[in-house]
Amino acid sequence: MSQRDLGQNGREQWATKIGFMLAAMGSAVGLGNIWRFSYVAGENGGAAFLLIYIAMILLIGIPIMLAEFSIGRRAQSDAVGSFETLAPKKPWVVAGFLGVASAFIILSFYGVIAGWTMKYFTGYLTGGLWSEPGEGYVDYFVNFITSPLQPLLWQFIFMALTVGIVFVGVKKGIEKANVILMPTLAILLIILAGYSLTLGGASEGLAFLFSPDWSVLAEPGIYLAALGQAFFSLSLGMGALITYGSYLSKKEQLPGATAGIATMDTLFAVIAGIMIFPAVFAFGGEPSDGVGLVFFTLPNIFESMPGGVIVGLAFFFLLAAAALSSAISLLEVAVAYFIRKFGWTRKKTALIIGGLIFLLGVPSSLGQGLLSDISIIGGRDILDSLDFIASNIFLPLGGLMIALFAGWGWKKAEVLEASNFGSSTLGAIWLFLLKFVAPVAILLVFLASIGIL
Ligand code: TRP
Repeated sequence: MSQRDLGQNGREQWATKIGFMLAAMGSAVGLGNIWRFSYVAGENGGAAFLLIYIAMILLIGIPIMLAEFSIGRRAQSDAVGSFETLAPKKPWVVAGFLGVASAFIILSFYGVIAGWTMKYFTGYLTGGLWSEPGEGYVDYFVNFITSPLQPLLWQFIFMALTVGIVFVGVKKGIEKANVILMPTLAILLIILAGYSLTLGGASEGLAFLFSPDWSVLAEPGIYLAALGQAFFSLSLGMGALITYGSYLSKKEQLPGATAGIATMDTLFAVIAGIMIFPAVFAFGGEPSDGVGLVFFTLPNIFESMPGGVIVGLAFFFLLAAAALSSAISLLEVAVAYFIRKFGWTRKKTALIIGGLIFLLGVPSSLGQGLLSDISIIGGRDILDSLDFIASNIFLPLGGLMIALFAGWGWKKAEVLEASNFGSSTLGAIWLFLLKFVAPVAILLVFLASIGIL
């Protein structure tokens, strides 16, 4: 930033923009980029999936992200309240309620997976993962997640941290910590990706991620998977970014910030892919190994590298921290709504809602072992089913309503002003994407996946 900009805008504005970017990036970058991206891309053919995923980010994700920020900043309220303010007594507010429901569902299983990362962190801290356990990394993982109590304990600890932060109100502290933690995670990912390419699986891994097998485009499921992943990874479709937009000053330019956040989020995922897939092939795994993919691939990488114990320790610490800043944004959507709705204090609300979400997550955790016979949607276990309902249905549906509201339900001049586009060509393109492209694309994906097309 030049002297002149500082002089013109003053220090406060600058600090606001950084705080906003960090909060939004902290929400976006999390387990979705590493754990979820790797296994969903792995199950859906890799490169062809990646292409569709990126197209969806450009045509659907970025326009809707900008719409969420614009709505929140204009309305200065939470996910539900923003619609009540901008369009009183209109049905758009359903998007807000759907968002609060999604926050409950997503955080319930997010806490389970985040708990797994904390367990791995302690494995590198106390010695359990200093060298390959006797049963091997795959069985170590499976034994852990199928045991009834241990994963619940870690889920509880993670949720307690999340609630504690929303409770004590040290979110600002977490955001400040992210100034250091997120770039460190990025650097570590890049180093690990470079190292992973030396392990002997580079050509297969890179081909899997970058050289498309077009035949998978015939699978209707791949479009829904890419759509759900785009919404999940960008924290989109449930008002988390409406809430964050409401904290932003009117002077900031939203389009640039939006492009920056979406680009960073996508880079994290692609680099995670370059780290995971060569190693998957080098150590004889399969990209389609499912939810546990990163948990049994990464330890192999750490085991094979000099100083791997320290790297593993750092990695799982940073991943858990990234998960925490995402979890905070999920909890905040529900907490902000219930504080307003019931007039409870922030502390009481954080405890009650956080506690409920923990309980809601218990079946997802037990579904790995004790309750593994229960499958809900298409053979998916409890955790996968909740993830499917929230990420692939609720979030895109919420996003659809947000796009339709900004494109059709809001005065054109007002939307364009709220987004800082004014009467520019880019603004016209953005509105076109919101009015037609994003809604039609989301509907087509829905139709294709229920077998109507
Ligand atoms: N985007 C986060 C991740 O990739 C998860 C997340 C945080 C989220 N807030 C959200 C997903 C809101 C959907 C909606 O890990």
